[in-house]
Amino acid sequence: MATNYDIIILNGIVVTDTQVGDLDVAIKNEKIVKVVPRGKLGDVTAAKTIDADGGYVMPGGVDAHVHLDEPPLFGKGSTADNYETGSRSAICGGTTTMVTFAPQKKSEDTLLDTLRATHAKAKDICYTDYSFHLLVGNPSGNALSEFKTLREEGISSLKIYMTYEALQLHDGQILDVLLEARRQKITTMVHAENGQVIDWMTAQLEKRKLFAPKYHGTSHPPMAEIEATYRAISLSEFIDTPILIVHVSTPAAAAHIKQAQDRGLPIYAETCPQYLFLTKKDLDQPGFEGAKCVCSPPPRESEADCDAIWDGLANGTFTILSSDHCPFRYDDNANGKKTCINDEFPVGHFKYIPNGCPGIETRLSLTLGADRLDLKKFVEVTSSNPAKLYGLWPRKGGIIEGESDADINIWYPPGKMQEYELKNEMLHHNVDYTPFEGRVVKQWPRYTLLRGQVVWDKENGGLLGRKGYGQFVKRGTSALKGPRTEGEWELPL
Ligand SMILES: *[C@@H]1O[C@H](CO)[C@@H](O)[C@H](O)[C@H]1NC(C)=O
Repeated sequence: MATNYDIIILNGIVVTDTQVGDLDVAIKNEKIVKVVPRGKLGDVTAAKTIDADGGYVMPGGVDAHVHLDEPPLFGKGSTADNYETGSRSAICGGTTTMVTFAPQKKSEDTLLDTLRATHAKAKDICYTDYSFHLLVGNPSGNALSEFKTLREEGISSLKIYMTYEALQLHDGQILDVLLEARRQKITTMVHAENGQVIDWMTAQLEKRKLFAPKYHGTSHPPMAEIEATYRAISLSEFIDTPILIVHVSTPAAAAHIKQAQDRGLPIYAETCPQYLFLTKKDLDQPGFEGAKCVCSPPPRESEADCDAIWDGLANGTFTILSSDHCPFRYDDNANGKKTCINDEFPVGHFKYIPNGCPGIETRLSLTLGADRLDLKKFVEVTSSNPAKLYGLWPRKGGIIEGESDADINIWYPPGKMQEYELKNEMLHHNVDYTPFEGRVVKQWPRYTLLRGQVVWDKENGGLLGRKGYGQFVKRGTSALKGPRTEGEWELPL
């Protein structure tokens, strides 16, 4: 008797982080249940058959750096996407799981309330599966004591900042966080820029009355990132606990990370498309246009910097590639980039431009379309490794029989997609621009599946997913290398 499946995917080239093969895939009850050589599924029936037509079949994207529905951090600007519009944009670009931030303010003493409030923001409106990193703004005794409960609630990562007045921790506070994170097997993400250097540079520019968007870049010199990266590595090595340096933009910071990794330390690193595709030129545009590309760290000096970041992806320095989707509308004086334009600063002031760019929908397509990464490496950094590092593996990030959710992207067969220029109106976020406007799109997911449902069909209806189908996913511990020593950290006497 024929075996009955929900969906079968035939004639595809399955690509995971470890293999590329002509394989057919069968799906039942939201899971991947069979992965067999092409033509070998045997006597089967299926409610739906998808002919991949020689296209790549990859695990759905996991984007582990996403800001949605966050309170203002830069004076007045607030994030343009909520959980509905952000996850909608994600799914239309092939990202099936996102990990967003649950931000605790400095004035707050608890993380569990922050977690609860963030759950309420996401509940019943997501198109993708999701989880949260707790953003620790105030590592009080009470907040530290809650790490254990966070783990029980399925949260296994935190983020801390070495910059931004509203969030910056000093080194003693960072050590407090790292020590308790080590105890609870939590991975700590670090925004590594030296906040005092940035403030000092900002004052120098203000003295000279230099306010244009491009000076955002000047105010964040590579040195501020390089120093903070090295300091974060040192603090992590001292406590012997894993960290991930988020959004690395500077080759010299990447070199510090590589050296630490070569010494066997559990130092992980992330970069983002901004640092592969944008440079200082994108900040130096006529009028206020450069504000569209204001993010921190800023796009760096030249193509050579981008090339070094690509090299770091290829050679394993970067564990993951995330979007750092942090959306602000451009032409918006109330909540967007233009909130910094007023009577005192008629052409705006770089210091008050909300920091961040949208990119959750374009991350996979632009990176794959650039044809610069080996296919397995592409899957590793955009899906498998974020799943492994943040405790979602092998449920997410893989195409493993009996283990993985049926979260899948089916791409166009190489060279078969009609190329076109990217326009913001093609995207599904709630933002009025993309920093990648006009770039040639060579690849886009043709179909996207989330837990066995076709949620995107590019040529037949586009977005088919349903708001609220996305679920919160409880996360376990990292599947990547942890501390080199076991047990309690001992004071070195
Ligand atoms: C790998 O890339 C990093 C970051 O660009 C660079 O510092 C390092 O030299 C590269 N290592 C090798 C072995 O190529």
